[in-house]
Amino acid sequence: MKDVAIVTGASGGIGRAISLSLIKQGYEMILLGRDAKKLKTLSTECQSLYGNATYFTGDLLDTNYLELMNKTISSHRKSISVLVNNAGIALRGPFYEPSMEEWSNIVNLNVSAALNLSRAVLPGMIDRRKGTIINISSLSGRFTSAGSALYSATKHALNGLSGGMFEDIREFGIKVSAIMPGFVDTDLTSNIGRDKKRMISPEDVAAAVEFVIQSSPNCCPTEIVLRPQQAP
Ligand SMILES: NC(=O)c1ccc[n+]([C@@H]2O[C@H](COP(=O)([O-])OP(=O)(O)OC[C@H]3O[C@@H](n4cnc5c(N)ncnc54)[C@H](OP(=O)(O)O)[C@@H]3O)[C@@H](O)[C@H]2O)c1
Repeated sequence: MKDVAIVTGASGGIGRAISLSLIKQGYEMILLGRDAKKLKTLSTECQSLYGNATYFTGDLLDTNYLELMNKTISSHRKSISVLVNNAGIALRGPFYEPSMEEWSNIVNLNVSAALNLSRAVLPGMIDRRKGTIINISSLSGRFTSAGSALYSATKHALNGLSGGMFEDIREFGIKVSAIMPGFVDTDLTSNIGRDKKRMISPEDVAAAVEFVIQSSPNCCPTEIVLRPQQAP
């Protein structure tokens, strides 16, 4: 039985690169996202790389979809080795502008969905004394800046969650890591007036994920910060 890796937001720039990297490492993939067309293309690409990939289209803000994903995870309990909590949105603008509903949505996606899915994979990982949970955070989880208070708050929360999760489950041999990239060249950073050519590539983030997974059983890189070499 092949080890299974789950990537949320697999249809987006970073999630796609991580998924292609994981399939090349020999994982069977479960790809999550909202855009069915992009997920279908990606799963076909994964299969052409001699891998097996299944996708489940849905909105992580929808409790029915989350419940379905929990059941799917439970049915793969014996084989899920990697969970990458990557799906995320940004809210730009001063903190007083977005509605409280927008605030709830960004918290629910960037933090609560990661918590929910991490809890779902845990029983299987504990049984097997093996597993890696990677949370794609952001440099905004380290620093604050004008116009990104709400996004930054969710990524600070994700870092706190990630660090605490590691402390809670490290004894089971499960790795937990927060990867914090600066600007990455994806749709999320289109139209923000920055130089895309200077941004980190999604493949750079995928390489950091691979580094965490490949680290020796006695070592867990709990936090990785990736910064563009030159300011975009
Ligand atoms: N780009 C950057 O500069 C940067 C820097 C640091 C951290 N990050 C983090 O990296 C992660 C991926 O971002 P990206 O740059 O690859 O952005 P992206 O291309 O916009 O991808 C975002 C992904 O999240 C998914 N998603 C959004 N809302 C969702 C929802 N309600 N339910 C399920 N999936 C949802 C999207 O799915 P659909 O496309 O199918 O809707 C997409 O797959 C995010 O957590 C982001 O905060 C990005």
